[in-house]
Amino acid sequence: MSSTSLPVQIRSILQPDFQKTDLILTELPIQQAKEGTDEHLIKVYATAPCSGELLWVRDFPQIVLPGKVGVPCYDLSGVVVTAPASSPFQPGAEIYTRIDAGRTGNAREYTIALTSELALKPKNLSWEEAASVPLSAFTAYQALFEHGGLNPGWNDEAGKLENSKKRVLITTSSGAVGVWVAQLAKIAGVKDIIGMAGPNNIDFVKSLGVTEVINYKQQSLGAWAAAGNPKVDLIIDMLGNQTLADAWTAVKDGGVLISIREPPENRKPKENAPKDVANHFFIMKPEGWQLKEIARLLENGEARTVVDSVWNLEEFKEAFAKSESGHPRGKVIIKVHE
Ligand SMILES: NC(=O)c1ccc[n+]([C@@H]2O[C@H](COP(=O)([O-])OP(=O)(O)OC[C@H]3O[C@@H](n4cnc5c(N)ncnc54)[C@H](OP(=O)(O)O)[C@@H]3O)[C@@H](O)[C@H]2O)c1
Repeated sequence: MSSTSLPVQIRSILQPDFQKTDLILTELPIQQAKEGTDEHLIKVYATAPCSGELLWVRDFPQIVLPGKVGVPCYDLSGVVVTAPASSPFQPGAEIYTRIDAGRTGNAREYTIALTSELALKPKNLSWEEAASVPLSAFTAYQALFEHGGLNPGWNDEAGKLENSKKRVLITTSSGAVGVWVAQLAKIAGVKDIIGMAGPNNIDFVKSLGVTEVINYKQQSLGAWAAAGNPKVDLIIDMLGNQTLADAWTAVKDGGVLISIREPPENRKPKENAPKDVANHFFIMKPEGWQLKEIARLLENGEARTVVDSVWNLEEFKEAFAKSESGHPRGKVIIKVHE
């Protein structure tokens, strides 16, 4: 499509007030890619909400970049419409990514993404499946390999051998991020993957690589640790609160405790805390090269993505309600173009 045949106004979901979680479906002016920048105009086929995202600007106002409009949803699959001449992603390229949440989001018919954020869409995935991947896979990759200390060499036998000696625990192994943490840990050679899951998800998380399930409806992480189970080298937490407090009792001296929910120091016990535990909270960064690696795993069948449900743009309220329910299995998707 040439840029001259583009609509002037496009359908968009809008959060009119960043202090509230209310959303409306409206029309907004199309945003053009700025000349002389890395911006690409993208026709959006599918996007995805992330639980909690409607309060990110209220809670982390420092993330906001100039020009941000309250369009939510930062995952994206779509087709490049205009591109800088130097970009490897020229018009017609089918791409997927998760853009920086400081900018205007992707729950609109056309959006903007940068060269560094983009990767080619895995060939064997639908638009909806492709949009389910980026945020969750970035977060899992960065939690395990950039912050968690696992060796990222899944083509490298030495790296796999090193990882095979680690015990890794995931506090929600059936959620959007958890399904990727489980799969990437397995691919990277980890042999002991302990995953918390509800009773309906036990077989499901085992199919992703979890080797021991803690049924959270029957046993808390604290009770599991107190029962004398061997302590673990690395915990990736998505829940915060009491589960994160319990995680301190399950990690070994010298281990690593990562939370994507809140700083682990917030929940560190005042007494008898394990010694020398490296602990971090981080916010994922979009890195196109990591999505290229993930695309390879998806295309060769080593990893799969998990879509909880697909909704049309008009069904945005249902989509956000499901995403915020605390119980999706994998990712909730909003379809924007057919
Ligand atoms: N820092 C970052 O960069 C970053 C990036 C991505 C996400 N996040 C945050 O990470 C959190 C998790 O996101 P997500 O999208 O992965 O979550 P999600 O998809 O909403 O998680 C849902 C899953 O959690 C399971 N679950 C619910 N309560 C549980 C419990 N007490 N113990 C174990 N499992 C439980 C549910 O299983 P059942 O149905 O069986 O209950 C369901 O499968 C959110 O707060 C999100 O905002 C942060």
